Amino acid sequence: MVEILREDRLIHLRNDSASYIIYLLEGGIAAHLYFGKRVEGFNPASMLRHYDLREDGAFSLQGCTLDHTPQEYPSHGLGDLREGALSVVQKDGTRSVDLRVTGVEVVDGKRGIPGLPATYGDNAKTLLLHMKDALLGLEATLSYAMFDDVAGVMRSVQLRNASDSDLVIERAYSLCLELPDSRYDLITLSGAWSREREINRRPLMMGEQGVSSLKGATSLHSSNMLFLARPETTEAQGEAIGAALVYSGNFKASVHVDAHRTSRVFLGLNDVDFAWKLTPGATFNTPEAVVVYSDEGLDGMSRAFHRVCAEHIVRGKYAKAPRPILLNNWEATYFGFNEEKLLKIARTAADVGVELFVLDDGWFGHRDDDTSSLGDWYVDANKLPHGMKHLTDQVHAMGLKFGLWFEPEMVCPVSELYKKHPDWAIHIAGREPVQARQQLTLDLSREDVQDYVHQCVASHLREDGIDYVKWDMNRNFSNIGSALLPADQQKELPHRYMLGLYRVMEKLVNEFPDVLFESCSSGGGRFDLGMLHYMPQTWTSDNTDALCRCRIQYATSLVFPPFAMGSHVSAVPNHQTGRVTPIETRGAVAMSGCFGYELDLNTLSAEELDKVRAQVKRVKELRQTLLYGDFHRLLSPYEGNDTAWLTVSPDKLEAVFMFTRAQAQSYAYPALIRLRGLAADRVYTIVETGESYTGAELMNAGVSVRLPWGDAASVSWTLRAK
Ligand code: GLA
Repeated sequence: MVEILREDRLIHLRNDSASYIIYLLEGGIAAHLYFGKRVEGFNPASMLRHYDLREDGAFSLQGCTLDHTPQEYPSHGLGDLREGALSVVQKDGTRSVDLRVTGVEVVDGKRGIPGLPATYGDNAKTLLLHMKDALLGLEATLSYAMFDDVAGVMRSVQLRNASDSDLVIERAYSLCLELPDSRYDLITLSGAWSREREINRRPLMMGEQGVSSLKGATSLHSSNMLFLARPETTEAQGEAIGAALVYSGNFKASVHVDAHRTSRVFLGLNDVDFAWKLTPGATFNTPEAVVVYSDEGLDGMSRAFHRVCAEHIVRGKYAKAPRPILLNNWEATYFGFNEEKLLKIARTAADVGVELFVLDDGWFGHRDDDTSSLGDWYVDANKLPHGMKHLTDQVHAMGLKFGLWFEPEMVCPVSELYKKHPDWAIHIAGREPVQARQQLTLDLSREDVQDYVHQCVASHLREDGIDYVKWDMNRNFSNIGSALLPADQQKELPHRYMLGLYRVMEKLVNEFPDVLFESCSSGGGRFDLGMLHYMPQTWTSDNTDALCRCRIQYATSLVFPPFAMGSHVSAVPNHQTGRVTPIETRGAVAMSGCFGYELDLNTLSAEELDKVRAQVKRVKELRQTLLYGDFHRLLSPYEGNDTAWLTVSPDKLEAVFMFTRAQAQSYAYPALIRLRGLAADRVYTIVETGESYTGAELMNAGVSVRLPWGDAASVSWTLRAK
């Protein structure tokens, strides 16, 4: 149950597991006193003393106590000398903001945010803190939604210009979270193409630290989230706080530790390449930030995030449904295919039990390589002389669904579209366009471009019998300018782009509720809660090497559950690393996500094909648990040679255990691995060995696992309980 209690100046949001406490100082400053494990009551005296505030809560500009005050939404320059969450330029060019609480409102449920992805669900209560800067005529509503099933708070801010002149927002973060100390490790996820989301863990230091993106997308290089764990926190125990943005564009995630070693966490739109002109009467909504708390280690934090993803972010027919096992032709053929070749691949796929055939890049315009044709979304008659419908009909006749790749946000300078509409690309007049992968980004801040993009995709979905879309995005922003925006609004482009993209996606997912969408961005370059709101799965990485995938999927699981991660078995030697791994290991790792193949099955031996058949059969039996069970990380590839994880069905009657060892070791004991998340008093039988143990034994004594011979060896077990 969620309660929002008010007692004098104290506002207490809580559910069964967490509490969030705000204190209204005299004069209307909203101070933050606590976020953590649920407490029954809260005497503010101790926290006020900790921050050196006067016990009566008085607030003094002269004494600069604001510089000590933990605030819900601080702004720099009126006594608080730290960085603020909000900066607004007023008529006279100055930018200080002084927000005071004018009203407190509690509403049932959780509201959406116009034009932006956001968490949803009825099992919530929302606190709205209404604030105003009387001098500026700026109103702010801070929104705090709490669901009864998540130890955390969903935060966003709405700003409104109630004055009669323009205001310009230069910074408006979604989240400020003040913590009374800095005894935390900061964990962030950073990487690059084909090695997305490496885990970085280091102690918080005085000063500013964090990650950000100015790439126009969440990016391959940094994820829009951060985690704070006590130094002693492990997977299984200890405190952790996690914050993730429900957004897919430029962001900033930072922690400032001040001289008194208190910590101020910010998460929101990056203020570089951002400004927003707020005309009289207009409103601006920040994206939403999800903040969760765990006292059960990083495992508990991830379970809270996974619940947010499963119950409050992902939508539509496939949100909880078995995801079809797919075969994607990209690594099988790259651009070199024709109808016959595709049908041959599809036939074998159907034969082994695959359910969805996906045609990747290269089917449109004259795209024989990546130098042309993005934007020209008509079928290449050289490759598919009978058209797309003819192909999908034949694939459907094999009993397979049909999926198609698009990269709708892009245009190649070598394309019909660019010839006709050079202004539709993001560009700066007079500057030579910077190309990446021989392509430019379309200016999705424009409605005409949004409509074109929508139409291109929609017409194929309407006419060609498409059941699945892989929505790709393969370059970052440069020459950031829009032909339509006036000079004083050019800085709005990156955010307007995202609003335009979300508008197109919202239309498409509503119009085509039966189509399964998978998001992709050069692999996992836009793996975020924003995309997950429209597309229930994301291609995790172009790197399909099983050992690399152990690292990538392990780190991705800090926030995202298996059902969000596209993961495929590909050919060996692997196309990204040259490594040869056993097909069993490739299968074991890939089945911990939305399972599929990324190779031509016709190139496999009869023995390998039998193994593929067995994998497909096993995934079909176990996928409800594999995709929607509770996921527990057991051994970290960041700490050694081994990776292990376990997925447990919600009723705890079934579990799937996965263990890999990168390099074989001679004369080694079998590994002894302690499982988590099982029912202690149930007896589990390991199907593959026939052995039975109680959950308590498996979790406390562990299970000894002997690996097969060789590098990249693995074990994948099914556990069933009586
Ligand atoms: C990106 C994707 C790949 C593939 C190619 C096609 O790199 O991540 O999976 O679709 O584009 O060009």
